[in-house]
Amino acid sequence: MHFEFTEEQIAVRDAAREFTQTELLPGVIERDTEARFPYEQIKKMGDLGFMGMMVDPKYSGGGMDTISYVLAMEEISKIDASASVSMSVNNSLVCWGLEKYGSEEQKQKYLTKLATGEILGAFCLSEPEAGSDATSQKTSAELKGDHYVLNGTKNWITNGSSASVYLVIAQTDASKGHKGISVFIVEKGWEGFVIGKKEDKLGIRGSDTHSLMFTDVKVPVANRIGEEGFGFTFAMETLNGGRIGIAAQALGIASGAYELALAYSKERKAFGKPISQHQAIQFKLADMATQIEAARLLVLKAAWLKDQGQDYSLASAMAKLYASEVAMQVTVEAVQVHGGYGYVKEYHVERLMRDAKITQIYEGTSEIQKIVISRSILR
Ligand code: CAA
Ligand code: FAD
Repeated sequence: MHFEFTEEQIAVRDAAREFTQTELLPGVIERDTEARFPYEQIKKMGDLGFMGMMVDPKYSGGGMDTISYVLAMEEISKIDASASVSMSVNNSLVCWGLEKYGSEEQKQKYLTKLATGEILGAFCLSEPEAGSDATSQKTSAELKGDHYVLNGTKNWITNGSSASVYLVIAQTDASKGHKGISVFIVEKGWEGFVIGKKEDKLGIRGSDTHSLMFTDVKVPVANRIGEEGFGFTFAMETLNGGRIGIAAQALGIASGAYELALAYSKERKAFGKPISQHQAIQFKLADMATQIEAARLLVLKAAWLKDQGQDYSLASAMAKLYASEVAMQVTVEAVQVHGGYGYVKEYHVERLMRDAKITQIYEGTSEIQKIVISRSILR
């Protein structure tokens, strides 16, 4: 068992850390306040190779391992979780699914641009009436000759307006239940595809979350990924990896808040000494550090299993469940350590607390992770 990173992994982590300080930290409070998408920053993340980190270099990706990816995700999420959710969706939901299951033609046409961040992708599973209960979705795709006719509404789509390419999961044969669900590549601008309203959110306010409406959108058969009926398996397998990315995001939010609380506790004086010398604060910091370390080990274990080609569905659900709970607990405590200063934007921890909450909801709520975990251990 090795608890050491390779030189390459450390270099990736350090590059991500430096990028956050020079490019993401300046303006992060304003972007959150104004709910402004970090276009410029995401473009630079693409230039640095962060948007298609694990994609094979023959499709213009970074050819890196999952450990490097989670190290970068953690660093970027410490500073800007709105940027990191775009990164996570593009890397682990869109690029991964396309590379693993797309045709050569689809990879040449879409993956090569997605992997460099030249364009962004979105993953469209959730609907107004089907979130956790993902098999009950209503969006339909009816085969008519050389194309499908797509109708329906998707909800809560990350990169909703910034994306150019959308992986849309839709029913092709409702009588077959989840085995009648397929997945399609849809391009922005196609007739009948309308991007709906942008959500005004509690956290990750810089991320553009939209509903999407499809009315008689013509999708070429060549844009179906895999066979008809493969869409639900595609979604579940993609989410197994996606949950590692979101677990790393949660870890980053937690460790970012902890680092701020630790530094502040050494500066802030109360009753004649730094608050870090009061045991109540020391115990909070001890709990935070321990929880973060445990979350980190779960995230790295899931990433390692994926890199080894082993089954990582259970590990990714555990990592996502635990890291997101830790993110919530640690950020609440980080605000507490800051006292009143923690409650205002300038000190960053209130934003991290608001950002933490979404990690317990998207890519499968905490309750859904417990379903995945319990089904696996009881099987
Ligand atoms: N990996 C692989 N296959 C899986 C799987 C997993 N983790 N979970 C389920 N499956 C397979 C099952 O094996 C089964 O396949 P077979 O019939 O071929 O055996 C099929 O999927 C159906 O499974 P279930 O019978 O268990 O289906 P269910 O309806 O009872 O529940 C669920 C499945 C696990 C609850 C699933 O619906 C689920 O994961 N829901 C949450 C949806 C979700 O995570 N959405 C995220 C949207 S993307 C997003 O959120 C992005 C973002 O924010 C940034
Ligand atoms: P519901 O499924 O209605 O759940 C409501 C509550 O009931 C939750 O607490 C849930 O855990 C609980 N619950 C439901 N079923 C059970 C059960 N069987 N047992 C116990 N408890 C249960 N989706 C995408 O497809 N693509 C995206 O890019 C995307 N990005 C998102 C970004 C944001 C900011 C948000 C808020 C959501 C995003 N989502 C995305 C959707 C997200 O995945 C769903 O919100 C999530 O899966 C939960 O679905 P729901 O909101 O319909 O809640």
